[in-house]
Amino acid sequence: MKLIFKLFSILYIFSFAWSCQKGDAQSTRQINKTIIADSAMVVSARQEASEIGLSILKKGGNAFDAMIATEMALAVCFPFAGNLGGGGFMVYRTSEGETGALDYREKAPLSATKTMYLDDTGKPNSQLSRIGSLAIGVPGTVAGMFKVHEKFGSIPMSDLLQPSIELAKSGFAVTSKQAKMLDQMQSLFMEVNKDSILFSGQFRKGDSIKNLALANTLEKIALNGLSEFYDGKTGQTLVDFISSRGGILNVKDLKNYEAVWREHIEISYKNLNVISMPPPSSGGIVLGQILKMIEDFDLKALGHNSTKYVQTLAEAERRAYADRSFYLGDPDFIDIPVDSLLSEHYSKLRMQDFSFEAATTSEEIEHGKFSVAESDETTHYSIVDQFGNAIAATTTLNGAYGSKLFCSELGIFLNNEMDDFSAKPGYPNMFGLVGAEANSIAPGKRMLSSMTPTILEKDDKLWMSLGTPGGSTIITSVLQTILNVYEFDMSMQEAVNAPRFHHQWLPDEITFETIGFESQLLDSLKRKNYRVIQKESKILGKVDAILVLPDGKLEAGADWRGDDTAAGF
Ligand code: GLY
Repeated sequence: MKLIFKLFSILYIFSFAWSCQKGDAQSTRQINKTIIADSAMVVSARQEASEIGLSILKKGGNAFDAMIATEMALAVCFPFAGNLGGGGFMVYRTSEGETGALDYREKAPLSATKTMYLDDTGKPNSQLSRIGSLAIGVPGTVAGMFKVHEKFGSIPMSDLLQPSIELAKSGFAVTSKQAKMLDQMQSLFMEVNKDSILFSGQFRKGDSIKNLALANTLEKIALNGLSEFYDGKTGQTLVDFISSRGGILNVKDLKNYEAVWREHIEISYKNLNVISMPPPSSGGIVLGQILKMIEDFDLKALGHNSTKYVQTLAEAERRAYADRSFYLGDPDFIDIPVDSLLSEHYSKLRMQDFSFEAATTSEEIEHGKFSVAESDETTHYSIVDQFGNAIAATTTLNGAYGSKLFCSELGIFLNNEMDDFSAKPGYPNMFGLVGAEANSIAPGKRMLSSMTPTILEKDDKLWMSLGTPGGSTIITSVLQTILNVYEFDMSMQEAVNAPRFHHQWLPDEITFETIGFESQLLDSLKRKNYRVIQKESKILGKVDAILVLPDGKLEAGADWRGDDTAAGF
């Protein structure tokens, strides 16, 4: 197969002399090169994973086959978020235009209780929901991969797992960003695991890590199928391990787990059709609400990242996140007024009290009322295949390396997704998100997410596939990336490179990345009563995206903020 890559530029090092609130802080960033492929592409957090996904496409596999191979490769070489012990969401569009969404989100164990993280004084003990065995939700990733394979797979599962088995055996190369992160985690790894684990010690760029236990786990799954993880020896090993560490996840939790096909969220924004993730992710609804609230504004005339542009987005975000907090949770447990939240009428009403003169405070904004009966350490990848199928998938352990609890026998970290529940209405989780009753803990319930894998059609044709990690900032990073291309005519890579900001209702502040915003902008917002935050080294998301160009070729957007890499042909 012919492989044509056009490198529009090899490597740019841009120096930015933007002044930051703290003075000079970080002043350089490395921008990824623009990559264009003729017909197929994988963009993910790691080169190895993108190349493994691509190798499946080259063998004649489709985007769904490549998804399984990429996700499993991320579990090997990106244990920070790639996983067998976590969960995720996927949105797809087939070459025939059929669209849908897969929920392989974790669930609360059957022995979970609403008050399990409250201390004697009734306050949430966030340590319990964030690190160690009680933080673990029932993992959904393996079930998700088999669900995809059952419906769309064209290559045997064992062939899709084989490249990851080989990678785990031969070892993956540690990147400098990875070495730095592993270094920061050492004391927590020891505190939680009470012993050294595979990832203990000092790592340098280029070191190789072999995960033979994970290779063995994947080999067993390849041989015995889904039941190996949920109803077999591997499942039993997992349950025994978690209970030996004081956890509550049991055999029944694994046996009962199922990944679910869901009705996706679909909204229009001008001549775009936005297809995104429904609850239990808040991503599609909140993204849809914000787009609807800003649709009547002439954003181009306001100017990219101008004071008025930031105000417009921040005020829409404030209102949508207030609604998120009140209305959204697991649709299998609560009724969600999806149509009302996304209606034109409601969106217009919601922005009626917005003025460019001054900020609306979040105290004044409650969830909207209408007359009808979530470290940030996730990972996203996008794939478009040579047949025209597209997927956008976001997968996570929640925090970096999840609960930090590592099952050495299986070679996997376990998630801390239970922290995405509202442990007590009114109290914030690790992303500062304040939740309500709709997202309270119940046995077998899925915790609310912000993950926003999204596919866009323009004039009824596939136009873009994108998503990002970033906890509560996922939705606003996806939003700005779409607007950067659609409203401001940026290329896909430029749109991903551009600096980002974020508002989520509570806390009442706009967070800006530390580079790319001028002090005049921040000062003018402060004069309008906005609280402006620039944290040292703050990055918002790591967006991975694919744009279909007018000539049908594919342009990658791989985020410079991580080790994200595109591969295509
Ligand atoms: N765990 C992050 C999210 O689901 O939004």
